[in-house]
Amino acid sequence: MKTPAARRRHGSRRGLAAASAALLLASGTVALTQASASAAAGCRVDYTTNDWGGGFTANVAVTNLGDPITGGWTLEWDFPGNQRVTSGWNGTFAQSGAHVTVTNPSWSSTLGTGASVTPGFQATYSGTNAAPARFTLNGTVCDGSTGPTDPPTDPPTDPPGDRVDNPYAGADVYVNPEWSANAASEPGGSAVADEPTGVWMDRIAAIGGANGRMGLRDHLDEALDQGADTIQVVVYNLPGRDCAALASNGELGPDEIDRYKAEFIDPIAEILGDDAYADLRIVTVVEIDSLPNLITNVGTGDVATENCNEMLENGNYQNGIAYALQKLGAIPNVYNYIDIGHHGWLGWDDNFSSSADLLTEVAQQSGSLGNVAGFITNTANYGALEEPYFSIGDSVNGTSVRQSSWVDWNRYVDELSYAQAYRQELIGNGFGQDIGMLIDTSRNGWGGPDRPAGPGPTTDVDAYVDGSRTDRRLHLGNWCNQAGAGLGERPTASPEPGIDAYVWIKPPGESDGASQEIPNDEGKGFDEMCDPAYGGNPRNGGNPSGALPDAPISGHWFSAQFRELLANANPPVQ
Ligand code: BGC
Repeated sequence: MKTPAARRRHGSRRGLAAASAALLLASGTVALTQASASAAAGCRVDYTTNDWGGGFTANVAVTNLGDPITGGWTLEWDFPGNQRVTSGWNGTFAQSGAHVTVTNPSWSSTLGTGASVTPGFQATYSGTNAAPARFTLNGTVCDGSTGPTDPPTDPPTDPPGDRVDNPYAGADVYVNPEWSANAASEPGGSAVADEPTGVWMDRIAAIGGANGRMGLRDHLDEALDQGADTIQVVVYNLPGRDCAALASNGELGPDEIDRYKAEFIDPIAEILGDDAYADLRIVTVVEIDSLPNLITNVGTGDVATENCNEMLENGNYQNGIAYALQKLGAIPNVYNYIDIGHHGWLGWDDNFSSSADLLTEVAQQSGSLGNVAGFITNTANYGALEEPYFSIGDSVNGTSVRQSSWVDWNRYVDELSYAQAYRQELIGNGFGQDIGMLIDTSRNGWGGPDRPAGPGPTTDVDAYVDGSRTDRRLHLGNWCNQAGAGLGERPTASPEPGIDAYVWIKPPGESDGASQEIPNDEGKGFDEMCDPAYGGNPRNGGNPSGALPDAPISGHWFSAQFRELLANANPPVQ
């Protein structure tokens, strides 16, 4: 049996994720947030409750102290305890985990300067009923003052240029011809071969073009030829890479930070900064998995690894990422996105805020939070975007789904609710309202014959969750070449509030890791989580790996996986 501490500290590398429809925000929010971002903003909240023990009603009087708000408002807070809203008035209430969102009723979308509105609600709770520490109105913290809500834009350390808010908005995104050819060579693959995918700089040689493949300049030149507006480049070569797993260990040893800077980041920055590419919006996904590993896979617990402890101690993940953010952030048309794992990794309370704090520190170490355009979740992972048939607020015979074996006290059951909540956490840490989230939907579709058609039986909480969930993995901690997975949402710009895009950063059909030891010159090891015969470890609750057999080493074309992703796509591929 895992201890509760271990349970909440799954160190699944590209863990997994599940999804649930949770509670969605009104779609009017985005436009409003953007429109008001540069105006004077401010608000005050007066929160009063009438508590009878186990339940209460509350009034949330909010006064707009800033410029008039037209076109809708959104009030948000996090409950400090387990309070759950059961009904509300003077606004549309939605709750995901501890996070509550209230949007204006359709009959009242404006709030003049000095005007107030008082949404109210009824809720249940157990334990203590402390008031929320912080409220935001259209993203502005209601602390009674009016001040700029955008990140500071003029300190000397801030990057130059005039980036757009969302580099995907209205953009044609670069199609990597190498991936496209692989996809098109598979039966039925042409239907998706024109989708944009990430270009991975996964070793020093990839910059110039490894093994006869296109290098970074080749891709940028091709992007210009395509008339693309945006290109997605993954920067993935930290010293001691992939410290909790073996499948994507890299070429640089734990101490080779100087080589990382001089031979990897500097040449990439030089190419990306070339004037020839100044009109491209260059999205950089900076070093997936690394900072999340420093949260969950360190210390002395049963999921810690020596390699992650070493990387935490030598500071080379933090130093390398800060350096990359600073060098790349200085290029006016580069948009840095940092990895936030996925909900099945950092969605536990123990991991959520501490990881956001670490990301914030590293961004600060780069000289400015303005070096970061946003964050990405679910890269190369399988967590469902939304779970349509159950949500985190559900309970069965009085038992919360959080107590099911699958959810296991996580706060989230899907990537969308996780990404939106994480964004709020980062804004609370000082990032600007203009940060946006990316969700990798390359392999999280979970369609096909095994997809449930409705909620599971309510006999008990496990039967309900297991019958409802579309994510069919054996355990949320499984991450390698998952059997039964399908392509997820096709890449889409601005699909939901706070989300810059659904993206295919991990190119579908490229392996997560070899299912057995295969000698190679890329530094890649063999991770048993990619062997279908493996019986598991504390990071996946001792379950079989759920991996497909006969996989090549990570990054190499895996035809059988691509075919399965295509067959199980959700939405289906027409
Ligand atoms: C591999 C990289 C590869 C990437 C995209 C990663 O798992 O380690 O070498 O470029 O996936 O397929």
